[in-house]
Amino acid sequence: MTTEKDFVTPNFTNTVENGSFRWSAPSNIALVKYWGKKTNQIPANPSISFTLNNCKTITQLAFSHKENDGDFSFDLLFEGKPKEDFKPKIKKFLERIEPYCPYLKNYHFTIDTLNTFPHSSGIASSASGMAALAMNIMSLEKQLNPEMTEDFFYQKASFLARLGSGSACRSVKGSVVVWGNHDEIEGSSDLFGVAFPSKVHANFKNYQDTILLVDKGEKQVSSTVGHDLMHNHPFAEQRFAQAHTNLSAMKKVLETGDLEQFIQITESEALTLHAMMMTSLPYFILMKPNTLEIINKIWAFRNETKIPICFTLDAGANVHVLYPENVRVSVLQFITSELVGFCQNGNYICDAIGIGAIETIN
Ligand code: DP6
Repeated sequence: MTTEKDFVTPNFTNTVENGSFRWSAPSNIALVKYWGKKTNQIPANPSISFTLNNCKTITQLAFSHKENDGDFSFDLLFEGKPKEDFKPKIKKFLERIEPYCPYLKNYHFTIDTLNTFPHSSGIASSASGMAALAMNIMSLEKQLNPEMTEDFFYQKASFLARLGSGSACRSVKGSVVVWGNHDEIEGSSDLFGVAFPSKVHANFKNYQDTILLVDKGEKQVSSTVGHDLMHNHPFAEQRFAQAHTNLSAMKKVLETGDLEQFIQITESEALTLHAMMMTSLPYFILMKPNTLEIINKIWAFRNETKIPICFTLDAGANVHVLYPENVRVSVLQFITSELVGFCQNGNYICDAIGIGAIETIN
């Protein structure tokens, strides 16, 4: 079994003076949710997600050698302009990964990052952002240690991304990723995300995710605070056990293409996530009236048309509408005529399952 020790970098003989890399990494949408964690970003339960394609962060990392004076040294740019308020988060990330990347203090970094989705959309950029940065750091490590295998490269990238933000470890690979130990998923680990090991049924090929932006405001509950709510939560143990059961069921669904079951598990997981928030202390309601309007419309449309569309939610009010590619035209017509009115300024984003992080040309 792979342990944390396997990611501690040995002493390299190679040196690299300067250079730059550029990676894009997508967001992802969980079907079975990660909610609750132990120390060192270890998830309380396994989760599974679709990697997205269009919502992504593109990050360039330029590096130049410096003396190791005991400090991290980096400039942070967002869309080409200095962004001081992002720096503490990045510093914390570098501190967390330093035991595994002891070369970091030998370099001055310029990190230039941008998102393909609007900053204020309420879509969390931490998953795509941390994944994109982790990929760049692994590109540097690969120059220092060219013998590294491709498997190790991606596994350690996911491992590092997890230390930045748990769900980020599911943004390294596509198109379906599992994070967290699960008896029936071979190779699954609490330390990094793994590509879903079985063949995914054709029903899920190019599966669509239209993200309805109901509320673009600042997150009411940060993910750190949110996960903390699961400590001493009266239903925590039940919930963690349920995630294991739901992941077993979802595994079969992805193999057999059973869309009815897919809908049931996915919607139940979304509502359970919010139920956990509503039943914690302190308690929160993160859905907005328009979130419920949209859910009811989706249910009515599904009943009437028998089109297999469903919703999922993250820790916020936005709704992800999931559906197969072959019903795209009718669903988009439904969305534009009946759902867009519930979105803030009519905003929504069309996305679909994607393949994970990609190195792009500078
Ligand atoms: C509701 O990955 O943002 O989106 O590890 O504290 O950075 P941290 O949390 P984060 O939590 C995401 C929770 C979720 C469900 C999910 O994506 O599985």
